[in-house]
Amino acid sequence: MDFNQGWWLLGAGMWEERYQSAAGYLFGREPAQVLTENPWLVMPGASVLCVADGEGRNAVHLARRGMRVTAFDMAPTAVARARALAAEANVAIDTQVASWSDWDWSRRYDMVLAVYVQFATPEFRIRQFVDMATALKPGGRLVLHGYTPEQVGLGSGGPSNRAHMYTADLLSEAFLGWTVERLATYERDVQEGRGHSGRSALIDFVARKPA
Ligand SMILES: C[S@@+](CC[C@H](N)C(=O)[O-])C[C@H]1O[C@@H](n2cnc3c(N)ncnc32)[C@H](O)[C@@H]1O
Repeated sequence: MDFNQGWWLLGAGMWEERYQSAAGYLFGREPAQVLTENPWLVMPGASVLCVADGEGRNAVHLARRGMRVTAFDMAPTAVARARALAAEANVAIDTQVASWSDWDWSRRYDMVLAVYVQFATPEFRIRQFVDMATALKPGGRLVLHGYTPEQVGLGSGGPSNRAHMYTADLLSEAFLGWTVERLATYERDVQEGRGHSGRSALIDFVARKPA
């Protein structure tokens, strides 16, 4: 499958338009709750890659706590906002405009953070998981935060296709042999900008790549 063709490119335009038409930060300026509620995820001094990081709320949070942050997103407006947020917080982040397919996945990090990256079809998700695993050093930590299938119909964010969602079984099987540090499914009220707002069906998956 050629992921650089067809709906994938349309998707790129759609995200940029969404950000351009938002007054202010579409997903807010505060980090995803998975980070604030699990402060042990932060590894001061360690490197982290924040994938499809949007407007930088998670990247800036981690940089403020001493992590060496690299991030990317394909929407230029989002990346510009991420840079502005970092400047305001007086922290350095290396954030680039790049699509998933163009990113250099051979660079290695201590941690990879993926928050709400469920734009991927099940086919593309396989590639996402392989890419993120490749980008981790042995023993490195993967942090995934997203929606379960129960999210569909709640109307509080995310794609409307259940096939894009994560289940505990799906993630456990995809990362078989990894040391799972947290696997939790739960419902809660989320207020993360206008993009994610209301009762939400969530999943956290944190695991260490085999050393
Ligand atoms: C739901 S937002 C989440 C943003 C951010 N992770 C957060 O939690 O605030 C999904 C992000 O994925 C980005 N995105 C979608 N498809 C992408 C692709 N193929 N390559 C890179 N970024 C992509 C969008 O531009 C958008 O910023």
